[in-house]
Amino acid sequence: MQEAEPDRDDLALTRRAALRAGAVSAAVAMLGSAPGQAAARPIAMGSAAEIGAFRSDPRYREALKRYCDVVVPMNDLKWEALRHDRARFDFSGADELVAFAEANRKALRGHTLLWGEALPPWVKEMKTRAEAERELVNHIEVVVDHYKGRIATWDVVNEVIKYDPTSGGPWRDTVWQRLLGPEHVEIAFRTAARTDPKARLVLNDFHFEERDPGAAARRKVALDICRRLKDKGIPIHGVGMQAHLYAEKQIDTDGLQRFMRDLDGLGLDVEITELDVIDWKMPADAALRDKHSAALVSTFLNAVVSAKRPKAIVTWGLTDRYSWVGETFPRKDDAKARPLPLDADYRPKPMMAVLERYRRGTG
Ligand code: XIL
Repeated sequence: MQEAEPDRDDLALTRRAALRAGAVSAAVAMLGSAPGQAAARPIAMGSAAEIGAFRSDPRYREALKRYCDVVVPMNDLKWEALRHDRARFDFSGADELVAFAEANRKALRGHTLLWGEALPPWVKEMKTRAEAERELVNHIEVVVDHYKGRIATWDVVNEVIKYDPTSGGPWRDTVWQRLLGPEHVEIAFRTAARTDPKARLVLNDFHFEERDPGAAARRKVALDICRRLKDKGIPIHGVGMQAHLYAEKQIDTDGLQRFMRDLDGLGLDVEITELDVIDWKMPADAALRDKHSAALVSTFLNAVVSAKRPKAIVTWGLTDRYSWVGETFPRKDDAKARPLPLDADYRPKPMMAVLERYRRGTG
């Protein structure tokens, strides 16, 4: 295990996190020198924020204030939201969430500059390499510049790895891959770095934690991409693990820990970026599901943290009242999905206790 000293921003963030969580002693321990306590330093916690709920539900805004050190606009920085009209950028939703985060002194993650989904129709109709490159570069320049110095971390590319790279691969079939080839990733990182040289730049992807050959292959592809960027002198600072955990699957603790060490060897950070639990195949009993999900999240986080401390742990929403899981992974019965740390009435579930342990630095 290699534990780097936190940089200034990180320290400020985690210190605020600890103080907000009421754990003054943990913050002091973090700043102090006692060896052996390093692994118990607070980790910034955050959530994605969905603009509809944010606008309509005061309890949602309160929960963001209370539980988050980091806020991520869930959908409003995607091309679909920003580039609905080809001729102009619509920053309205993202600006609202960024202003909220700043007013409440939360750090921000930007999600995402390049993805094969959530694209307006005109992007999918592009025909030539030159057009795709021109649009991609222009988009990243305008968006990163708009939030320069305000959004500290960007998911520069999202889900560029093929779902199962063991059957051909390694790239996901997207409009960017079709028109630009593997270079789409380099163009994205290079442009983001040039536009805001101080931003932290992250490759974000999913299915790294499962115990199957596909996940192992995905970890290898991620490392290969990172290594290649580094070899070419293109800045990349970390890997984001989405961590949409399937309740019925097992965590590959060994594989994850090796992945952490390999990332560490490349000098890269890791962060958990979209944590939730997909409980579609679990029995309906709510208490049982909540207990199981908390245990799964604990197993996952423990595997990661014991090998490498993530920069942040971000959940994909806070309350079961609003989540993509129910729609995307429908249950066979009519029980509601329970993927997140607060229930639909904003009561903390056992998963929240697990997260708060890490936020306080006692995890
Ligand atoms: C999801 C949002 O949560 C939904 O509201 C939206 O309708 C679709 O996208 N991986 C990602 C996220 O990187 O951007 C996705 O978010 C969930 C899967």
